[in-house]
Amino acid sequence: MIQERIKNSLRDVHDFPKPGIVFKDITPILKDQKLCSEIVDEFVERLKHLEFDAIAGIESRGFLFGLMLANKLNKPFIPIRKAGKLPYKTIQQSYDLEYGSATIEIHADAFQEGQKILIHDDLLATGGTVEATSLLIQKMKGQIAGFSFLISLNFLNGEQKLNKFSKNNISLAS
Ligand code: PRP
Ligand code: ADE
Repeated sequence: MIQERIKNSLRDVHDFPKPGIVFKDITPILKDQKLCSEIVDEFVERLKHLEFDAIAGIESRGFLFGLMLANKLNKPFIPIRKAGKLPYKTIQQSYDLEYGSATIEIHADAFQEGQKILIHDDLLATGGTVEATSLLIQKMKGQIAGFSFLISLNFLNGEQKLNKFSKNNISLAS
């Protein structure tokens, strides 16, 4: 099962970036090209019946599989970046996460009003990051088609924050 392979390949790093946090390091997965291509295939299989116009991937780890997926599904990719990185006119949203707070941005012309956007990230923890991304998309009058994650940390109940935006929530491992 791909779920087990993902879990077995994750590396737990204790006390990073702060004491008490168990950081789920995906870099061992990235070194395994066969697993990476199976992950992309699994996402494609599970997303192929979902209707959406573009994939928004969240900096930085959400870019890794997000762009591969968008390319495979023949959809545009939209980068959601940490504040101060996108060069053109942006819309912003601040949020809290497991180990701090941050502000994310999207280009004001990233998609058109009414378009359906799939939000992709490597990992769901408290849900603060994807909630902020969903709010950004709604500010720009987009629709949230759903969410896709490699891993969900269920004990942090992040899913509860997402239900109000979309019930389409795919995680390959938890
Ligand atoms: C991590 C992860 C998610 C977010 C999840 O990103 O990649 O984006 O935290 O946490 P949440 O569900 O509590 O919001 P991080 O901000 O560490 O940035 P990075 O991807 O650049 O490492
Ligand atoms: N993002 C938020 N919490 C995380 C964790 N425990 N491991 C990796 N990324 C994270």
